[in-house]
Amino acid sequence: MADQHGLALIEDCCQAHLATCQGVPVGTTGIAAAYSFYPTKNLGAFGDGGAVCTRDAALDTRLRRLRNGGQTTRNHHTEVAAHSRLDEMQAAVLRARLPYLAGWTTRRRALAAQYRAGLTDTRGTTNTTIVVPPACDPGHVYHLFPLRTAARDGLRKRLHARGIDTLVHYPTPLPNQPAFADASPNHCPVATSVCDELFSVPLYPGLTDAAVSRVVDAVTDSSLGAAR
Ligand SMILES: Cc1ncc(COP(=O)(O)O)c(C=O)c1O
Repeated sequence: MADQHGLALIEDCCQAHLATCQGVPVGTTGIAAAYSFYPTKNLGAFGDGGAVCTRDAALDTRLRRLRNGGQTTRNHHTEVAAHSRLDEMQAAVLRARLPYLAGWTTRRRALAAQYRAGLTDTRGTTNTTIVVPPACDPGHVYHLFPLRTAARDGLRKRLHARGIDTLVHYPTPLPNQPAFADASPNHCPVATSVCDELFSVPLYPGLTDAAVSRVVDAVTDSSLGAAR
């Protein structure tokens, strides 16, 4: 589609380290891809960090310049740019953690499979209506495991009362953010209703099978309790 319309495709891979889509590694389709190393990401530093991947040599040169105040050679700036270099401490942390990424990803996939298996009975039943994301591609790396239900806020409270923290990714659709007040289209009813119904259950590589079972039991019990 981008080719047909003469558009440059930039992939947002900020939470998709090692993900593949129909067997193709994400970040290899467009002209460039952005990765985040924010501490909560699948590969996280101790602070902020990120990377851009590209196969385009000219873009590579420009990006290296843009992250470095627009300098081409020392003290020679050809354009106005930001200071956005990955600092050495973050690079050292990422280098030490990188060898673990494949194992962490395998664990994320196993945890997602356990959630899916445990919540199957909840999906589609008329008295609970908790929608579990379908297993769409084995290359998914499960940065999050979101569930969707119209009874979200009550369910989150009941889970919280059992010591299970959940988060909402994300509560406000972009068109409703003040920064985009003038953007068009400014009304996205589907995004708005999804934002009102989504919540994410815990998922990180260190989570135990027992902990996932506890969350599954709590979601199932609480949702049934809510329907009574
Ligand atoms: C999909 C996506 N894109 C971009 C970002 C921004 O990444 P960063 O905080 O490293 O700028 C995030 C972080 O939450 C994200 O999840």
